[in-house]
Amino acid sequence: MSLFKTRRTIKPAFMDASREVPLALLDTILEDAHWAPTHGLTQPWRFHVFHGRRKLLDLSEGLQAVFCASVPAEQQDEGTLNKLAQYPAGSAAAVALLVHVPAKSRIPEWEEVAAVCCAAQNLMLSAHTQGLGAFWSTTPTTTRPEFVHWLGAEPELHRSLGIIYLGWPKDGAREKLSSTRVPLAERIIWH
Ligand SMILES: Cc1cc2nc3c(=O)[nH]c(=O)nc-3n(C[C@H](O)[C@H](O)[C@H](O)COP(=O)(O)O)c2cc1C
Repeated sequence: MSLFKTRRTIKPAFMDASREVPLALLDTILEDAHWAPTHGLTQPWRFHVFHGRRKLLDLSEGLQAVFCASVPAEQQDEGTLNKLAQYPAGSAAAVALLVHVPAKSRIPEWEEVAAVCCAAQNLMLSAHTQGLGAFWSTTPTTTRPEFVHWLGAEPELHRSLGIIYLGWPKDGAREKLSSTRVPLAERIIWH
């Protein structure tokens, strides 16, 4: 089966958090992401990378702090708070995907967002070729301007598209995960 069809979303619960991802491997994956296409070669992605236990704990705490500061108290739920802590805790690395959106540009914002989505798919496929699992999380906290600020970037100039978590799949995890698609013919309109 092809690379494209065998890539699966592998959530942190299915990753072995005790196994590190070597920095050299992370570099390779980010380099592959960096070669995504962009209109005008703007290369609008800004990869905010968290690697290793200490940094991932910082991310857990940061996400929880952003959630508590930006969601009204009566809407804060234990489930979301746990998720925000457990995703970084269960993975070996995390990449927050920011789009750089300059105040004045001839490239419309949607094209910059599209380019970063191309980079994200490169990143996930590259991870897959290395045997790593990847999970793109867009839990609302991860896409808030407050999270952009927490990362140290200017919210006026950046949009967050969420976080890709990376880690080695637990034994047998990949085989247990399945995914389906509607028949291709339902998504093609031939002209
Ligand atoms: C832009 C984007 C955002 C996503 N956000 C989430 C998310 O927040 N939570 C989640 O469980 N899955 C998320 N996913 C993963 C999808 O659930 C997953 O791709 C889909 O179920 C198909 O499974 P597969 O990736 O294994 O083919 C996201 C995927 C994309 C492309």
